[in-house]
Amino acid sequence: MKTIVLNNDQVAKDTYYLQLQVPEGFKYEPGQFLMLKINKLNEPLLRRPFSIAKVDETIDIYYKVIGLGTNILKSYKKGDLIDFTGPFGNGFDLRNKRIVLCGGGIGVAPLIGLKYFLDSKNITSHCFFGFNSKEDCFVDFGEIATLDGSLGKKGSVVDLLEDLDNSFHVYACGPKGMLKALCELADRKGFSMDISLESNMACGFGVCLGCSINTINGYKQVCKDGPAFNYTEIIW
Ligand SMILES: Cc1cc2nc3c(=O)[nH]c(=O)nc-3n(C[C@H](O)[C@H](O)[C@H](O)COP(=O)(O)OP(=O)(O)OC[C@H]3O[C@@H](n4cnc5c(N)ncnc54)[C@H](O)[C@@H]3O)c2cc1C
Ligand code: FES
Repeated sequence: MKTIVLNNDQVAKDTYYLQLQVPEGFKYEPGQFLMLKINKLNEPLLRRPFSIAKVDETIDIYYKVIGLGTNILKSYKKGDLIDFTGPFGNGFDLRNKRIVLCGGGIGVAPLIGLKYFLDSKNITSHCFFGFNSKEDCFVDFGEIATLDGSLGKKGSVVDLLEDLDNSFHVYACGPKGMLKALCELADRKGFSMDISLESNMACGFGVCLGCSINTINGYKQVCKDGPAFNYTEIIW
């Protein structure tokens, strides 16, 4: 399906905010993602997965420029057409507990839509976001931690969750190291948690098996069975 780029501005270090026109009938659940076809230079690129940060009047995506595809993506201008498939994935299941959202780096993106959804249902949530440095931060809400101390509390965002107990449910997304540290904290503190995982993806809908991960229930596909998993399932 093709849609129109409405905005593609830099909002933080190597981080861009892409807004797309919402095609008629488009529906999504917080936590789902799109596969974008980035072919402006006619490179034979596979589609690339990006979380839907939010859908309101536009489909919003935040992306970090890291390689060939995202370097081409940042050159898209307002009015350009872009091809996508999706939304794919399972989205976040709602839990009847005190809710905490914990994101690291570009992993904050899918939690923005979850926060927006929870607010719309008058469900209170507490947000904790971590970045390497002030210049990487692209959100204007939540409690912030930065590794270099240039914004918010100095240290890892995981440290901000030390006071949680088993009355909380955490939704988390971020780099592997952060997620592993959160899993250890969850074991220690007794809170429940769903984590949204990243993996290399070719198809996005369960066919290529490129995104398989090992779980206590056997191999699962991040694109189809996830990207959100209960943390106790994952074999790291
Ligand atoms: C479900 C899902 C949701 C995602 N949501 C977002 C999002 O909202 N915003 C965003 O910026 N990114 C997101 N990503 C990651 C994004 O898909 C990759 O950053 C992107 O595909 C990189 O494409 P590229 O062509 O620029 O890099 P490539 O040229 O393909 O890769 C460049 C280098 O980066 C490494 N790399 C590629 N992908 C990743 C990755 N996911 N993590 C770490 N290293 C990687 C490669 O191994 C290579 O060394 C998501 C990934 C998944 C699976
Ligand atoms: S990306 Fe193809 S099976 Fe998941």
